[in-house]
Amino acid sequence: MASDHVQPITLSRFLIEQQRLPEHPCPAELRLLIETVARACKAVGHAIARGALGDVLGALGSENVQGEVQKKLDVIANDLLLDANEWGGHLAAMASEEMETIHRIPNRYPKGEYLLLFDPIDGSSNIDVDLSVGTIFSVLRAPDACAGRDVTEEDFLQPGRDQVAAGYALYGPQTLLVLTIGTGVYEFMLDREVGSWRMTDGPMRIPAGNREFAINMARRRQWSPAVARYVEERILGAEGPCGVDYNMRWTASMVADVHRILKRGGVFLYPSDHRTTGKARLRLLYEANPMSFLIEQAGGSASDGAGRIMDVAPTGLHQRIGVMLGDADEVKAITG
Ligand code: F6P
Ligand code: MN
Repeated sequence: MASDHVQPITLSRFLIEQQRLPEHPCPAELRLLIETVARACKAVGHAIARGALGDVLGALGSENVQGEVQKKLDVIANDLLLDANEWGGHLAAMASEEMETIHRIPNRYPKGEYLLLFDPIDGSSNIDVDLSVGTIFSVLRAPDACAGRDVTEEDFLQPGRDQVAAGYALYGPQTLLVLTIGTGVYEFMLDREVGSWRMTDGPMRIPAGNREFAINMARRRQWSPAVARYVEERILGAEGPCGVDYNMRWTASMVADVHRILKRGGVFLYPSDHRTTGKARLRLLYEANPMSFLIEQAGGSASDGAGRIMDVAPTGLHQRIGVMLGDADEVKAITG
């Protein structure tokens, strides 16, 4: 019976209710996989919070496959996610921004029908200065064709529209988990005293008309004429063609910027360098696709400048892509 002592529903209860939906029921295996990912994110959040006292800050001296300096926490979080998800029997393989190639489930464990992709610590330049970072994840179904043989990298090269789940954990003033399994977007907050995730928002809809854009202004020379025009018109504000002032926010952590847009609207832009084919910052499989799935499920849109991100057929595990996502009207103002 409801009383003041009853808290919002837990992630576990939400997923069980999703499993019972007459239309679009969440398969039990997917439910258990998401619970495992959520549990791993708790451990990642805990490691981050130990900070300097836990000797987890700073660089390792190694580089990842992208040629970026690996932070200690990049590796710690990657290991936590691999360890947590290896033995449950829900996965056929995993892929991570921090690993050159895929991680197959070892033969000593049962294999499942899903593929998990993740960016263990997104926005990791923020770690050492105590600003928000996150974990992004995406779930695909392993193609039927890989039954009875080893999963290959090619099995991961599926368009974003084929994702069955996507989400992120945001390690900010509160630790949040934001999730979609194709039935809307839901936010859960970690109740540290009890140790469970409780629903704090959802189904989430991107509020329309918030005049706020997020872009790294220092990359101005790389913008296409369409992006440059969009930003310049907004900087002119009330004195330009928009006739109204805009705000700019950039946290240098995609999770934090996307979360702000889901909560209060606006647009996030990390366009590709228009001077060089294919040179872009964000990864299609670990960042652009899962965030596009969430944004579309919340009523927004996500484009690479040429078309819908989730329709792009991936050609490589670590492929990068230009990203423009958020309020559908703002995205349209750039892409036409
Ligand atoms: O993972 C890439 C990332 O850290 C995103 O989280 C973030 O949006 C972006 O890069 C920040 O880029 P920059 O260093 O150009 O501000
Ligand atoms: Mn990232």
